[in-house]
Amino acid sequence: MVINTKDELKRFIKNAHEEQKTIGFVPTMGFLHKGHLSLVKKAKEENQLVVVSIFVNPTQFGPTEDFETYPRDIQTDTRLAMEAGADVIFNPSTEEMYVPGSSTWVEVEGDITSVLCGASRPTHFRGVTTVVNMLFNIVEPDKAYFGQKDAQQAAVLTKMVQDLHMNVEIVVCPIVREADGVALSSRNIYLNKEEREQAAVLNRSLQLVQEAYWKGEKSVEVLTELIVKNINQMPLAEIDYVNIYAYPSLKTIAKVEEKAIAAVAVKFGKTRLIDNIILEKRK
Ligand code: PAJ
Repeated sequence: MVINTKDELKRFIKNAHEEQKTIGFVPTMGFLHKGHLSLVKKAKEENQLVVVSIFVNPTQFGPTEDFETYPRDIQTDTRLAMEAGADVIFNPSTEEMYVPGSSTWVEVEGDITSVLCGASRPTHFRGVTTVVNMLFNIVEPDKAYFGQKDAQQAAVLTKMVQDLHMNVEIVVCPIVREADGVALSSRNIYLNKEEREQAAVLNRSLQLVQEAYWKGEKSVEVLTELIVKNINQMPLAEIDYVNIYAYPSLKTIAKVEEKAIAAVAVKFGKTRLIDNIILEKRK
């Protein structure tokens, strides 16, 4: 079932609460792939009802970013989400979400939003936290599912929920990858053949850094340089950032002694791809 208005969705949710059904929620911007669908499947395993939202949120795009051209295919998305276990697809218009004259923002401050993608996209996380907060208020989920692919987003939203005492559990699910290691992303369709082939260097570099860390290298400088050198072997790769921080705080560290994240953002042509790996002791 597809629902376009918040009033209709709220009626559905009220009913579900009266029937004491647990609600799992998967927020997305659509153009669904196996990464999104892994979240829907996980939500289905853990809840009696699953709501998937499809909303390309204008406030998380910068003025020169791809809001207008972001891929959209609501018919296919609806079919795929339902097949994966969604009970309701919430597909509101921009006006439905942002009421005229709305001027309220939810913003998580500090290192967690100012480094990595926050440095390259200064208004991005404010847009994400505001829209996710709105969606949580409409859907009132017991659990909400996010991908480790957007590790910083997951950390920021977990912090928002803690700081604001929100009644929802954030569940973070593993990155789903193609056979050559490229993380699935709605933006991968922008890549031409050569760019797509060279994009595999991201995951290869992150694997290398994990090996080096497991072999005993702890210096953030050395580990970062290893990734940079590797990525730069690809002629079409243009690095936006390569960084290692404590995770999930995203505090600066000189050595990897606690749980850390190696995160990269790299442009191939016009397409900016992100990827990451959590550096932890070998299990
Ligand atoms: P979107 O990019 O559509 O992603 C929706 C969810 O799918 C996010 O939690 C993201 O981390 C997850 N995801 C994407 N690719 C994945 C992959 N390869 N493996 C596992 N999970 C993956 O993230 C957003 O939308 C928006 O910022 C949103 C949270 C919906 C707010 O507008």
